[in-house]
Amino acid sequence: MTTATYPVATRMKNVSSSAIRDLLKHAAEPGMISLAGGLPAPDLFDVEGLRHASAEVMRDVPIAALQYGVTAGQPDLRNALVTLMKSRGATVDAGEIVVTTGSQQGIDLMARVMLDAGDIVCIERPSYLAAIQTFALAEAKFVGVAVDDHGMDVDALEKMLDTCASMSQPKPKLIYTVATFANPSGATMSLERRKKLLQLAVKHQVFVLEDDPYGELRSRGETLPPLIAIAKTIPGAEAWCGYISTLSKILSPGFRIGWAILPAALRNYAEIAKQGMDLHTSTFTQAVAARYLESGRMAERMPSIRASYKERNEALAEALKRHLAGALTYTQPDGGMFLWAQWTDAKINSAALLKFALPEKMIFVPGEHFYADAPLTHSIRLSFATPTPVQLEEGIRRLAVAVEKMRAATNGELAHAAE
Ligand SMILES: Cc1ncc(COP(=O)(O)O)c(C=O)c1O
Repeated sequence: MTTATYPVATRMKNVSSSAIRDLLKHAAEPGMISLAGGLPAPDLFDVEGLRHASAEVMRDVPIAALQYGVTAGQPDLRNALVTLMKSRGATVDAGEIVVTTGSQQGIDLMARVMLDAGDIVCIERPSYLAAIQTFALAEAKFVGVAVDDHGMDVDALEKMLDTCASMSQPKPKLIYTVATFANPSGATMSLERRKKLLQLAVKHQVFVLEDDPYGELRSRGETLPPLIAIAKTIPGAEAWCGYISTLSKILSPGFRIGWAILPAALRNYAEIAKQGMDLHTSTFTQAVAARYLESGRMAERMPSIRASYKERNEALAEALKRHLAGALTYTQPDGGMFLWAQWTDAKINSAALLKFALPEKMIFVPGEHFYADAPLTHSIRLSFATPTPVQLEEGIRRLAVAVEKMRAATNGELAHAAE
């Protein structure tokens, strides 16, 4: 067959396939221990509870669950999400919620609604890979703001916004933040910084989008309110922030249920954009999720889900101490699914190391994929979500072997980038 050159849109030439989705192919190989994807632990799926909720839906509301639905989402689910948001410290009306097909669609909707080619998006450095991908597809330009243990460096953000204002340069249109247990950094933005971020948003009239898939997965420390809740205490801030979240990490990613809470005008645009994407999110999974949430079963199970991720989080930290003591610098996260680290020997290129880890049957994500530009090549993301504590121990042992093999193969010269 002859290969054709298709006249694809220019924007497709600037994006590549997600490194993580590509790595997931290896995760399925027999014997592989994957610390790569942020896949929820398979033992935490409530198969029984969801079987029950599905049966109830087919018994009680089969027509509504099988029929087309409204774009903003099914009323039952939106009501159940109001209760869920209340437990997270945010009071919202059902009418403020747009159900999305995963929170990934929430990111895409915001990109479609807000960004023209060349517009600036402010992201954390490092940031969620698929958000970078989505904004790149919208042909955005990126400005990265450093992250430390307390989240985005809002003082650096302030300087950048002040410079834009004083030099009459174009300012960012959107600030995207994963404020709690960020992917990949694991960092959580402090309350002080949350407030300052909102004040900056109001002062410079820049919209802040908080993406919150992991907030419920706290292993230790105090819960912090989402930005939309804090915004109620800062004059003008409610107009300048939005929130997206998902049931993926606490119920099932296969359901593809997320939601967006946006100011009215943006919500309206988001609904129009969503009409063009998928008309609405699956009515069937919305109905099952609504039944499940209403049953109270998820609220009941959350403590044991948290405990399980805490155990995994600690098992990974223990394994790192045992097998790679001193080789990596990191702060153990207070929750979420990811540990972010840098090799103390900055010559270790994580992408090159992955090639030595694969034959040892372990995978991770090289940190370089989480940067829109100027990547830190000696950074690495280790997910503790999917493997058991025993597998985490073995996975890190294999990683240590991979480091040794790479050292031996390169005569200690580790500075080879992956081809
Ligand atoms: C920060 C962040 N946002 C969004 C998503 C997408 O999740 P969903 O399954 O809800 O589309 C993920 C998934 O890993 C994520 O880490």
